[in-house]
Amino acid sequence: MPKVKLNGISMQYHLEGPRSARPLVFVHGFPFSLALWKGQEKFFKKNYRVLTFDLRGMGQSALGKAPQPLEAYADDLLALLDKLKLRNPVLCGLSMGGYVAMRSLQKAPERFSGLVLCHTRPDADGDAAKLRRASGIKTIREKGARAFIKGLHPTLMAPETPASKPEIARDLLKIMKENNANGMSNALMAMAARTDSSAFLAEIRIPCLVIAGEKDALMPLEIVEGMAAKIPGSQFICLPEAGHVGNLEAPHIFNAALEEFLKTLK
Ligand code: MLT
Repeated sequence: MPKVKLNGISMQYHLEGPRSARPLVFVHGFPFSLALWKGQEKFFKKNYRVLTFDLRGMGQSALGKAPQPLEAYADDLLALLDKLKLRNPVLCGLSMGGYVAMRSLQKAPERFSGLVLCHTRPDADGDAAKLRRASGIKTIREKGARAFIKGLHPTLMAPETPASKPEIARDLLKIMKENNANGMSNALMAMAARTDSSAFLAEIRIPCLVIAGEKDALMPLEIVEGMAAKIPGSQFICLPEAGHVGNLEAPHIFNAALEEFLKTLK
């Protein structure tokens, strides 16, 4: 898979689809990689120029000199779009990818033509969330990345998913295991110290689709729905029976909703 040098690191990405088609950029969550979007890449590459990439310190992208704040992840996204000459893409971020997407849009609102926020929230971490991050970093340091991943993995899916769709649970674990301790610890610190995008929601002027999971234990439905309500003219969909990774757990509904949304864009 190709890599590009930017902002002092080597970043892995994958770009598919017709050169003249509208760019569609997917930003994965934590602790995943571009592999999270395999199903979307396959579905959308016929009609869209689909970009997936590994956030710094995750998948096969280097972390660079740590610590790196969330701002660096947003700067990377903007630099990657420059390098690949992708203009006015639709930006789709899941969870931490949503934090990066919101911050990127806030920094450069003129550069995007649409926004899709999946399983994410606009506000910054409160004290309880900060303490959970601290405990996660401690687990990674004392017990290793695998121990942290083992604890996190079941919470990412709806309770029924591991039994009803074991291949999804397996694929997700495989993606998670490709991440390393330093990259994961940095991402936890970056998320704990991220800015609050809540006030920015009312300023969003591009079409927006918000996607929630009915059984998402990490991003409560009312918070995701509340975020959608604050974005002028946004559309909202809740994926039934899905947890935190609706693009994997309910791919047909997810892809259909995204396709419908994309068709409405000028
Ligand atoms: C993610 O999936 O990216 C994380 O759950 C986000 C977070 O921990 O805030």
